[in-house]
Amino acid sequence: MTIPRQAIFADCSSKSAAPPLATRPLSAALGLEILDVDLSDPLPPAVIAQLREAWYEGLILLLRDQNLAEEDQVRFAECFGPPAKTINVNNTGRHPAVMLISNIRKDGKPIGALPDGEMQFHTDQCYIEKPAAASMLYAIEVPSVGGNTLFANAYLAYETLPAEIKRRIEGRKAVNAYDYENASTLRGTRLREGVPQYSHPLVRTHPATGRKALYVNRLMTIAIEDLPQAQSDELLNLLFDHQEQRRFIYEHFWRVGDILMWDNRCTLHARTDFSSAERRLMRRITILGEKPE
Ligand code: OGA
Ligand code: MN
Repeated sequence: MTIPRQAIFADCSSKSAAPPLATRPLSAALGLEILDVDLSDPLPPAVIAQLREAWYEGLILLLRDQNLAEEDQVRFAECFGPPAKTINVNNTGRHPAVMLISNIRKDGKPIGALPDGEMQFHTDQCYIEKPAAASMLYAIEVPSVGGNTLFANAYLAYETLPAEIKRRIEGRKAVNAYDYENASTLRGTRLREGVPQYSHPLVRTHPATGRKALYVNRLMTIAIEDLPQAQSDELLNLLFDHQEQRRFIYEHFWRVGDILMWDNRCTLHARTDFSSAERRLMRRITILGEKPE
């Protein structure tokens, strides 16, 4: 598969003059680890341009052993686009772009979102008009076992579909919905009234790389429009099973000090189960995105 190089460089303002970044692939499917970059200091523009290029190539970037204050993480996020303000009501005293993902409880209430256990494959905010372009997690406390995050390459998922399936999904849209109360981490059994939802193309084209990605997910894609329900269910299940194959996946085992950013337009992610007796604390920032096309 070839990545159009021109497209990759299209939105990088400066040609890079810095020595090449040291990187390491995370898996055969996707992911690049960036070595020897410390995010606690501001980065020169040439390095930022290289990071963006590496991100478009790798789909997810990992930097380990970082020691980041909130403002350091926000500054890193801003290299890739404007951060979104969070909707987390428990955010008092935090930078408005920062949200906690955590199972830690204070007075019986979780201090962050998505507190417990397994999460099925999904993309972030696919139930709104302009889902985040990217999300990043910075690991502050991690359980000794589990709570791993799995990432799937949605370009490969699209490219490897049989031609007949590509024809069946071409030009179609699907409803994506998020049931906060009933199904924040596992698929709900039915769509209740008032649940946030939005229809997006099943196949989207990445605005920077020009590559097509399969844009459905088991957690939140409810139905393909203009198909009888039985046909829609059958086709969606086939697509979910296809995109979740191990050959498209990188599984991340978290270490304290990891910062990992994924491109939400061409990857899916999921979380493995972990014990409620252990603490998990991630600091999350998302970057504003565009309407999928
Ligand atoms: C998220 C998310 C997974 C995790 O923050 O959007 O899905 O591993 N997190 O906590
Ligand atoms: Mn998510």
